[in-house]
Amino acid sequence: MKSSIVGLAAVLQLAVHASAQDGQSSPSDLENYWSYGHSESVPDTPVAKGLGDWADAYNKARKLVSQMTDEEKNNITYGHASTTTGCSGVTGSVPRLDFPGICFQDAGNGVRGVDMVNSYPAGIHTGASWNRDLAHSRAEHMGAEFRRKGANVALGPVVGPAGRIASGGRNWEGFGSDPYLSGALAAESVRGLQQNVIACVKHLIGNEQETNRNSPYLLEGSHNQSISSNIDDKTIHELYLWGFQDVVRAGAGSVMCSYNRINNSYGCQNSKVMNGLLKGELGFQGFVVSDWTGQHTGIASANAGMDVAMPDSQYWENNTLAIATKNGSMPDFRLDDMATRIIASWYKYAEIPNPGHGIPVSLLEPHDLVDARDPKSKNVILQSAVEGHVLVKNTAGALPLQKPKFLSLFGYDAIPSALNTADDSSLGGWSMGLQNALTYPNGSAVNNETEKYMFLSSTDPSFRGPGVAFNGTLFAGGGSGASTPAYIDAPLHAFQRQAYDDDTYLAWDLISLEPHVNPASDACLVFINEASSEGWDRPYLADPSSDKLVRNVAAKCPNTIVVIHNAGLRLVDEWIENPNITAVLYAHVPGQDSGRALVEVMYGKQSPSGRLPYTVARKESDYKELLEPVIPSGTQNEYYPQDNFTEGVYIDYKAFIQNEIQPRFEFGYGLTYSNFSYLDLDASVHSNANLQYTAAGSGAKIVEGGSEALWDIVASVNCTIQNTGKVRAAEVAQLYVGIPGGPPKVLRGFEKRTIDSGKKEHIQFDLTRRDLSHWDVEKQAWGLQAGKYPIYVGKSVLDIQLHGMLDIS
Ligand code: NOJ
Repeated sequence: MKSSIVGLAAVLQLAVHASAQDGQSSPSDLENYWSYGHSESVPDTPVAKGLGDWADAYNKARKLVSQMTDEEKNNITYGHASTTTGCSGVTGSVPRLDFPGICFQDAGNGVRGVDMVNSYPAGIHTGASWNRDLAHSRAEHMGAEFRRKGANVALGPVVGPAGRIASGGRNWEGFGSDPYLSGALAAESVRGLQQNVIACVKHLIGNEQETNRNSPYLLEGSHNQSISSNIDDKTIHELYLWGFQDVVRAGAGSVMCSYNRINNSYGCQNSKVMNGLLKGELGFQGFVVSDWTGQHTGIASANAGMDVAMPDSQYWENNTLAIATKNGSMPDFRLDDMATRIIASWYKYAEIPNPGHGIPVSLLEPHDLVDARDPKSKNVILQSAVEGHVLVKNTAGALPLQKPKFLSLFGYDAIPSALNTADDSSLGGWSMGLQNALTYPNGSAVNNETEKYMFLSSTDPSFRGPGVAFNGTLFAGGGSGASTPAYIDAPLHAFQRQAYDDDTYLAWDLISLEPHVNPASDACLVFINEASSEGWDRPYLADPSSDKLVRNVAAKCPNTIVVIHNAGLRLVDEWIENPNITAVLYAHVPGQDSGRALVEVMYGKQSPSGRLPYTVARKESDYKELLEPVIPSGTQNEYYPQDNFTEGVYIDYKAFIQNEIQPRFEFGYGLTYSNFSYLDLDASVHSNANLQYTAAGSGAKIVEGGSEALWDIVASVNCTIQNTGKVRAAEVAQLYVGIPGGPPKVLRGFEKRTIDSGKKEHIQFDLTRRDLSHWDVEKQAWGLQAGKYPIYVGKSVLDIQLHGMLDIS
């Protein structure tokens, strides 16, 4: 992928033919650039009423806030420098009313940048598990660690990026490229986290690329604006807001507005997005916090619906908001609502007396060890790691391994990074967890340049560029989602333990690009990775140097098994059809139990049970204009970079099906060590499935998550699955629906079941009104359409086992 050239082409195409013939922009270009229109203004911020089970928290919060002065209310709405904790951000406090302030801490995969915590599998790994219960327990245990460290807010989970751009640098932080899957797992994550702390679901919305996510003037003194994600109303509702709707329904206590602009208005001052969609339509009861330094205006951002500015605020400090309420630039009730939303979330989920007490300013200074780990988390960490492994090729019974006599191991990804030294302190939390939290001061400066050069492929020095392969086993991604493990159980460690039990002879060369292969090898295992980080998008979807290593081993070894730790989708067509490559596993980003989990799966202690939460293409160009980010260049585009989401909801598998492109491995795909058959489909519409529209604001009852009627169950699909193979294994039954006027198939249900050999299980998918509705732009409402809705139940989006039909009239 030649980023700049293809990127430029994409810009030119997507910018609605903006460039004049000579390549220069003319004044009319600007109009064209803005042809998606300006984001609508929604001036009134809904005041939170304390809906549903928020009532108590709101009563208490109103009482507390009523005792605060305007200056005190103002003071808790933005971040203050702390000399006592290293939290990612802390709000002001009101000591006289015993409100100690709030500590915000990254992120969705574990507590970032501290010692005495665990590193959990990443979002994409959890997405690949397709397991709601496990997503819940993972978050519950993680949330408990945040609380023990004194963090009130965990800055996760991620539902935006939604996975639109194949090379997007942060796709690994979310759960995959389908809004239904990602919304379901994010909702469970919110419920799990919020047993102990406030979840902060991010980034609202359209943060699909890292390139130019931020206005570079912050860094370089230029005047460019952030990328504008230009998204039409229907696509916003049916794709980008979908996951946020699920988490609001799950009771999310906070949401982070995004760096980018949405329809030319910055995420953190976009009144349509915050006032209109989130707080109005979805009935959000928590508070909105800016992404770090994502605030670009003062009173306007408060009036647009932002409640907290982080990590500081040049706009809201010095009592600006208090003054604004006095001089009439901002209504009193807005400042009250900001403070009340913050305090209500705190009461409801995270009333912690001593915020940030376990998060020291510097790990290099003497500090009390606050052990956030709980031995009870061990099973959850391991099982979440196991279930995110996706087996995509397995021929000639290559896997599971059965007491091999001689195994050969290759590849830089089998061992922890050798860069784990005190010298890496400058990398700060922007590393991939290559440090283990003893070696760097928490909260050190963001260093994007250094970050790029951590990605050295040990196999080929010429690939010293960003985003290639990480020189060491990839157990976490980079940036604010990185985590600091208690230990790293790398593949080599785990294979050694197993070798001890089985009396296997292990041979390894983890450095050479053209290794020798001992012909006595029963199997040759090649460990490679595909790294990714916040801050930049990936230049390749397959690292050529790692591909070379795989090919070289396969040329000499007829039983070559490839394990890829991939933070994002990774192409394999350079070698996948090579008959010497007998098995391939996408091992994703498993956290600290990487090796142990891999051995569980590769030795058949558990059958692999992950399924791809994205589509793997045969070649990069199959992703078409969704391959890579828009790279601003030229004149207007440089200053006001634009990305028109012209594909609408057609991303990932929806785009592949629409364009009739055969993927290498489709969305939902994954093998087990058993076989399953599907029987007895029954699809029925319930009597309440009337054709009503569920408009917000026009008499519809708004609950958390939007109009109440959206959550009625209006249809059910039943079937039976049977394990017809020889071993106990888990199947993920997937339900796809064809909604009239939309993509032919959209995911609308999934059920993961572990079933003994020979046994059957009954499965019921319940469909809510929302699941079957489309967003009607004219009516500004969700509604069922009269018509036939094809039903597909299967093992993946392309491997459909049962067909049915729902008829709604
Ligand atoms: C910027 C990232 O976009 C966000 O996800 C993170 O939580 C904040 N920085 C705080 O580190």
